[in-house]
Amino acid sequence: MMSGFQSAPIRSVCVVGLGSVGEPTAEHFASRGISTYGYDINPRAVKSAASKLNGVSTSLSELPLADLYVVTVDTGFQGEVPLVENVFKACAAIAARGHPQLVSIESTVPVGTCRRLYAEIFEGQGDLVHVPHRWWAGDIAHHGVAQPRVIGSINREAFALALDFYGRAGIPLLPVADIRIAELCKIAENTDRYLKIAFVELLKMICDEHDLDLEDLRRAMNSKWNVEVLEARQGIGGSCLPKDILYLKAAAPGLCHILDGARSVDEAYRTRGASRWRRSYPS
Ligand SMILES: NC(=O)c1ccc[n+]([C@@H]2O[C@H](COP(=O)([O-])OP(=O)(O)OC[C@H]3O[C@@H](n4cnc5c(N)ncnc54)[C@H](O)[C@@H]3O)[C@@H](O)[C@H]2O)c1
Repeated sequence: MMSGFQSAPIRSVCVVGLGSVGEPTAEHFASRGISTYGYDINPRAVKSAASKLNGVSTSLSELPLADLYVVTVDTGFQGEVPLVENVFKACAAIAARGHPQLVSIESTVPVGTCRRLYAEIFEGQGDLVHVPHRWWAGDIAHHGVAQPRVIGSINREAFALALDFYGRAGIPLLPVADIRIAELCKIAENTDRYLKIAFVELLKMICDEHDLDLEDLRRAMNSKWNVEVLEARQGIGGSCLPKDILYLKAAAPGLCHILDGARSVDEAYRTRGASRWRRSYPS
């Protein structure tokens, strides 16, 4: 990979992983007049995106070498252990394809992953940034591809290239000083929400034990200037919050008892029949 510092602006992008987040991301770039290609190992994902992009394939070598590769493959966990092998495989395929100007990891990853990718897959060469998604399918107009996001970078040159590209793509970015802050930000903001939800679930169960009305308690508590207790709903749903709390725990397992406590509370709450409650929380 070339250093981005003296490189020409990015003119073409290939989105790697055309799923829930990757397909609209690729469509967004294409809609801004940027030459956009898409790659996915799943032929169905490729077929779905085909009509909107300049080229799609299940093989990277069939597509032109793009200036930028945006990685939006799925990440998960097994037990409590983060599973990021798809990101490593996707980056290995990019490295085997050639030397793009920039790689942007948009998948959610545990702290330290981007540095490992840079050292182990890209062998310390070239430019890499992390721009984690805050995508929410419930309101893509406000919380879709173009909402403000954070960006962390492996070096200053990558920052310059990425800020220029994302700026032209109409995506506002908040730069953070260390790429691990960007990784931590994504999982910590969802964990913050998880903890707030678990707290009101706990209050609801305490109220039930004492035959009290949670809404009376919430109204009373929320009358204080620095308190904002959420509603009790159906329990913590979706995939992002349950995953991101585990990714945060993986950053310091010996310190994260509060996270285990919140997960136990949510489990107990759902077991007690949270289905009586209103819709689940967006993640
Ligand atoms: N869906 C959301 O609401 C949401 C919100 C915020 C962040 N995220 C994060 O975005 C990332 C993507 O999530 P998603 O919901 O779009 O996942 P998804 O499962 O809908 O799509 C992932 C796509 O990546 C493809 N893929 C997997 N490995 C690949 C590889 N090696 N090469 C090429 N393609 C590969 C899969 O075939 C699939 O089409 C995850 O890290 C997720 O945590 C998702």
